[in-house]
Amino acid sequence: MALPPQDLAALRQDYSQRGLDLPELDSDPIHQFQHWLKEAHDSGLIEPNAMTLATVDASGGPWTRTVLLKACDSRGFSFFTNYDGAKAAHIAADSRAALTFWWGALERQVNVTGRLSKVAREESEAYFAVRPLASQLGAWASPQSTPIEGRAQLERLFEECRQRFAGAEVPCPAHWGGYRLDPETIEFWQGRRSRLHDRFRFTRSGGEGWGVQRLAP
Ligand SMILES: Cc1cc2nc3c(=O)[nH]c(=O)nc-3n(C[C@H](O)[C@H](O)[C@H](O)COP(=O)(O)O)c2cc1C
Repeated sequence: MALPPQDLAALRQDYSQRGLDLPELDSDPIHQFQHWLKEAHDSGLIEPNAMTLATVDASGGPWTRTVLLKACDSRGFSFFTNYDGAKAAHIAADSRAALTFWWGALERQVNVTGRLSKVAREESEAYFAVRPLASQLGAWASPQSTPIEGRAQLERLFEECRQRFAGAEVPCPAHWGGYRLDPETIEFWQGRRSRLHDRFRFTRSGGEGWGVQRLAP
């Protein structure tokens, strides 16, 4: 049964937990992000590192999907994926991308824009090595983003990989690895009452420096 239209239209949350002002923001937005991510983690949110990743295809069409942030440092925001899938084709054609984190329990959003590039091969291999076996086999088995006949085909491919690597260490596939987004803008959003939310956008001002502006909600 569908949610009645009037119920959908009436869904409304007023945000009242806390405000956000310039003096409490770290002058380095990466440090600020790390601070908020820790709070999201500590508040018990499911998958606090889940982020919406937007890419554009070769004709400029936008696409989004969720991926998991696996590292964040002064170099940027990293995730791992299949280098043969749809998003990888988009990134090869246009490295511009955007990320959104939504931490509902904290009434917070972070938006990031920048450019993606592949992480060093050793970095992908090091992370692949610590993934659970089933995830390692899944990376070999799944032809990400391509149509398949059915669930049975996927399970057959997985089983073939399981037998192929039985008793051996599963190597990192050449078609699997990380991307890092080098940020150009990072925006911190804190929900407030009456839709008068607080927004601060950091923009890279050349070199290592950042400028910051408050934006209307
Ligand atoms: C919570 C969540 C986390 C996910 N994490 C990843 C991830 O880290 N890497 C990945 O390739 N896909 C991840 N996925 C699957 C992607 O959303 C997507 O279906 C897949 O990457 C194929 O995207 P594409 O066809 O646009 O390339 C995740 C999905 C969800 C819902």
